[in-house]
Amino acid sequence: MTPIQSCILKKTKGISPVWIMRQAGRYLPEFRKIRKTNKDFIKLCFNKKLVSEITLQPIRRFNFDAAIIFSDILIIPHALGQTVSFTKDLGPQLDVLDIPRIKKVKYDDFTKFLEPIYSALKKISNNKILRKKDIIGFVGSPWTILVYMINCSSPKKKLIPHFYKDEILFKEIFQIISDFTKIHIFNQVKSGATLIQLFDSWAGLVKKNKLQEYIYEQNRNIVDYIKSLKVPAICFPRGIKDYGSFVNHVKPDVISIDYNVKPEKILSKIDIPIQGGIDPKILLTNKDNVKKEVNKYKEIFKDHPYIFNLGHGILPDTDPKMVEYFVKIIKDK
Ligand code: CP3
Repeated sequence: MTPIQSCILKKTKGISPVWIMRQAGRYLPEFRKIRKTNKDFIKLCFNKKLVSEITLQPIRRFNFDAAIIFSDILIIPHALGQTVSFTKDLGPQLDVLDIPRIKKVKYDDFTKFLEPIYSALKKISNNKILRKKDIIGFVGSPWTILVYMINCSSPKKKLIPHFYKDEILFKEIFQIISDFTKIHIFNQVKSGATLIQLFDSWAGLVKKNKLQEYIYEQNRNIVDYIKSLKVPAICFPRGIKDYGSFVNHVKPDVISIDYNVKPEKILSKIDIPIQGGIDPKILLTNKDNVKKEVNKYKEIFKDHPYIFNLGHGILPDTDPKMVEYFVKIIKDK
């Protein structure tokens, strides 16, 4: 059994497993080198050889307990024909939403379009370096994907003024997104993913009176589906105020907390395995701070199943040497 799976089954004694959100990415010189000659990010996500290579880069360097497939949550709208592109300053840009056109997309064509991702997963699952390690497949949660599909760009940059007006539109899009999300999850699991993480990066935007409908029900539906495939589901509802209530409604196998959550406060509210929480900015400071922070989390979670990770993606300016040190301190007895 892998360290993460045994942690989830609450059999872990001693050392907690570790992986890092966005571990395959820009802080690694070997990634930046590939990126230099592959300027189109989306195109890179469909290059099965390079996807496998980039996925394995952080494993070779840091021996993390899991690989996460190099891809993006916005691959789903892209595969539905709502073309996605990335520009340096603006972040992701999506074509206008055309629901009648999306409704014509056939499940088989969607799967065929995403085939390079599944081939990459198959390829890496045969690699010896991943023995006794998990391969994490992932999707965006329906709400977060809906935000991008309607808003056509990051809500951090701008949120269209009439965003919340059209309830019927929301219902229709939720249905489409969750149907295709399940297919993408099924295909990833069939191709070798041993865990699925749901990124609800914009959960924090939802007002209390809509949490049930947009966040709890949508995540619960996908989590139930993942469980039916007999793989664990990790949820990351970033920015949500009440993680305890989320866990009670959604019942994931693991809850990943963001860096605004006080780890000592969450313990009494949650009785499932916990992941993450460490502020990515810590890795920009110095070794003393990193050591202090890791030891703080070790102490707080000494009697609770815990997977070391950050409270959001690793920052591009992070020195890989600091990541090496982070892992070393985690693994030191
Ligand atoms: O974790 C990993 O190493 C696997 C790969 C991964 C990427 N994106 C690669 C990527 C994962 C798990 C994601 C998830 C993702 N993508 C999320 C959810 C997590 C989160 O950060 O909240 C979201 C919201 C996206 C959408 C997205 N993709 C944005 C907003 C951006 C631009 C801003 C940014 O962070 O660069 C991306 C681009 C992206 N996705 C890059 C990578 C490595 C950077 C591309 C580059 O410039 O090289």
